[in-house]
Amino acid sequence: MAVIGKDIKEAIEILKSGEVIGMPTETVYGLAGNAYNTEAITKIFTVKNRPTFDPLIVHTSSIERVHEFVSEIPEKAQLLAKHFMPGPLTLLLPKKDVISDLVTSGLDTVAVRIPNHPLALQLLENLDFPLAAPSANPFGYISPTSAQHVDNQLGDKIKYILDGGECKVGIESSIIGFFDGEIVVLRKGGLAIEEIEAIVGKVRIEEHSSSNPKAPGMLKSHYAPRTQLLFTGDLLLAHEDTKLIGYLGFDKFHTSIPQENQLLLSPAGDLNEAAKHLFAYMRLLDARGFDKIYTDLLPEKGLGRAINDRIKRATTQE
Ligand code: TXA
Ligand code: MG
Repeated sequence: MAVIGKDIKEAIEILKSGEVIGMPTETVYGLAGNAYNTEAITKIFTVKNRPTFDPLIVHTSSIERVHEFVSEIPEKAQLLAKHFMPGPLTLLLPKKDVISDLVTSGLDTVAVRIPNHPLALQLLENLDFPLAAPSANPFGYISPTSAQHVDNQLGDKIKYILDGGECKVGIESSIIGFFDGEIVVLRKGGLAIEEIEAIVGKVRIEEHSSSNPKAPGMLKSHYAPRTQLLFTGDLLLAHEDTKLIGYLGFDKFHTSIPQENQLLLSPAGDLNEAAKHLFAYMRLLDARGFDKIYTDLLPEKGLGRAINDRIKRATTQE
């Protein structure tokens, strides 16, 4: 198992040696390595068992430092950066040659993020290279929102996990690209569309799929727990043994399923709280050994949109 600790110096030493570590951010934990070191990047793909056609996000500590590896920041991107960086936002920007094709899977743009987490920022400020970091989960599984989640899944493959506590946002960053002057949301995430549109006006939301070349990693079946996750819509409870059924709800218990089998993302009906709990609660229910877990969509507003996106990807696809 990996060492879980808060020792920034240790984390820096390991990263400088070309190794990878678990790193906290406000969205989810990342599997971080030197973005300028091909060996470290290769390790990230190997440890995660991630196909190399799925590019990585590069993390740094300030907008000034973004210029080290990005050739140009469009005006609208600067505006978004000013308002939301550090924060749960990733911008796709034209890359400089210091970023290898391995990081971007051959694309001309690099995904850039400044995490809003004190320990992550302290780490990045003390390194003279940015950190490439995908979410620290095996490819296709739920993202980790605590150091323990990372250890459970990747602990035998990495030495160190920097412990920054539970992630405050709980779902991955919103990814935004700029194509022919148009602003496109490629992944709904921890920054609500409403907040983005309040600054730059109407944006286009692009449905992600494996066939979408702009976001090659957005496979349809993603974020999946091991237990079958289904919507209650066609739940025929009369035919089910409800003892063996779990339920992941928003703010109300399901009346036909035993309450001890249920978790509510936010009894108060708060979408931000629901986002924070989403992946952790999926994991808790997944560990209970149910035959099936049922769920329902949340209100399609604020972070509810990103939560619904994750739930749809996690439900069993016919
Ligand atoms: O919140 C987050 O963004 C977390 C934390 C650790 O920062 N990171 C994260 O990384 O979610 P990952 O690798 O799990 O998801 C990155 C997504 C992938 O779907 C990938 O396809 C997309 O970003 N991506 C990366 N670079 C891209 C690019 N140049 N163009 C289009 N999509 C890109
Ligand atoms: Mg991921």
